[in-house]
Amino acid sequence: MYLKNRKAIVTGGPTREWIDPVRFISNPSSGKMGAALADECSRRARDTVFIHGPIEPSLISMAPYRCVAVETTADMLAAVSRELEENAVLIMAAAPADYSPVTRANRKIKKSGKKMSLELARTPDILKVVAAMKKEGRISELFVVGFAAETNDIEEYALKKLAEKNLDMICLNDVSRKDAGFGTDTNILTIFARDGMRKELPLVSKQEAAARIVDEIDARLPRFLISC
Ligand code: CTP
Repeated sequence: MYLKNRKAIVTGGPTREWIDPVRFISNPSSGKMGAALADECSRRARDTVFIHGPIEPSLISMAPYRCVAVETTADMLAAVSRELEENAVLIMAAAPADYSPVTRANRKIKKSGKKMSLELARTPDILKVVAAMKKEGRISELFVVGFAAETNDIEEYALKKLAEKNLDMICLNDVSRKDAGFGTDTNILTIFARDGMRKELPLVSKQEAAARIVDEIDARLPRFLISC
């Protein structure tokens, strides 16, 4: 109900970090969860933008909202930063690549030797950059939702990310489970909020999961828009 006066910024899919013109580092994120969240937000928010990495075009071919295609994690950070505004809701369902080659070769790297080493550097953590912007007062009223894709010690890691990335809510995804996580049409999520809420969702479609996540966001938004 309170989302209807706000802008929703949703991210989804993987990012790509190029090694040379024919190879890149990425991950199996399909963007389905992000697209389902963008669909749900577009029915309920004042305005929705979906910032996505390389995903199946059919996922957004009929999208009634603005889509911004990006490739690298740095591009995604720049796109998110451009879209931020006071009172907005940011949902980071994307799986940005965490490392990028230190140098990108202009020409295809030819095979030589039995082993090859690649020097990688950390990409920016988008949620941590946003948390720093909030701390510095560059933006103050922003409801931020993260995802945690985990295979082990899952709740411990999710709660650590909730605190370290200064999130209002985090959706924990046990990607080691069949029917949950990368590429599937269904998901099994546990939602944790800053106020201590812990809600386990059953195995549901990503559309249904998106509706339940947006319900939990809406229930926690301040009643009035804050003028800054
Ligand atoms: N995320 C981000 N910037 C990155 C990597 C991740 O903002 N460079 C966001 C994701 O969109 C997600 C949350 O951080 O909302 C957690 O992502 P996840 O891949 O589970 O964890 P990481 O923070 O990358 O940490 P690790 O890979 O060590 O588990």
